[in-house]
Amino acid sequence: MNRLDGKVAVISGAARGIGAETAKLMIEAGAKVAVGDVLDERGRETARSLGDGAFYHHLDVTTEEAWHEMIAATTARFGGIDILVNNAGMFLGKGIEEASLDEWSRLVAINMTGVFLGTKLCLPALRDRAQHSPHGSAIVNLASVAGLVGSQLDPLYSMTKGGVTLFTKSSALEFARKGYRIRVNSIHPGVIQTDMGEQTFAARARSYGTNDTEAARKVALSTHPIGRLGVPNDIAKGIVFLASDDAAFMTGAGLVVDGGLTAQ
Ligand code: NAI
Repeated sequence: MNRLDGKVAVISGAARGIGAETAKLMIEAGAKVAVGDVLDERGRETARSLGDGAFYHHLDVTTEEAWHEMIAATTARFGGIDILVNNAGMFLGKGIEEASLDEWSRLVAINMTGVFLGTKLCLPALRDRAQHSPHGSAIVNLASVAGLVGSQLDPLYSMTKGGVTLFTKSSALEFARKGYRIRVNSIHPGVIQTDMGEQTFAARARSYGTNDTEAARKVALSTHPIGRLGVPNDIAKGIVFLASDDAAFMTGAGLVVDGGLTAQ
């Protein structure tokens, strides 16, 4: 189950957090992985820890040139691309009145332009490999619960993730209509304990007018009926499933992995 033998994956933002854990599980599932990020030292360390099946390449998802270089490096090293995980993302943690236009533009560039460019520019390589694979190629986009319901902590983040949710469905439909054999699905994590997870606690504390992140963490925890916050492994398992042939009949879908947060 959930095997990725012989597959090649490009994962953006994979130096740490959910992306790094996904790279690890994909290697264990038999894939080769290109780790892309702007955190070069951390990214190299992550790739090194994964052995010969992984390598690091600098990737700023907001620029076309960086994507071209990443794709060229991956195809030169591993011969093609079967899986794209659009994972790189940022959280702003500011309300509408506090956020500046520059901050909004940065958020859009990473959370939305990055997903568009990754999808567009990896498309030829994904189409190519899809022809030789029984169930085609796969794209997994990191959306969020904030792409399904509103976020009082970060409405602008929510706007970008809502965009990712519907871009996932739209690109799935476009590629299916064109017969490209590329499945596109999104995953919607609840609060996950990563650097970004910590940023959400700090933002929550700020919104209460304190810097008590421990109290904010407890409030965040109370919104997860399952009784705990998520860890990167919870999400990486879902991503590996969506990327694998076990999800062969899934496209345009959103996999919610949120401890029951949006069930309420
Ligand atoms: P993280 O902050 O630990 O990791 C994000 C990675 O993206 C970092 O390594 C960062 O350097 C990289 N990145 C940032 N800008 C980049 C750029 N321009 N180009 C390439 N890489 C860039 O965050 P985490 O938690 O691992 O998040 C991964 C994804 O999951 C994000 O898209 C995030 O929005 C989403 N997510 C996270 C949740 C959480 O609670 N942690 C909840 C819901 C969704």
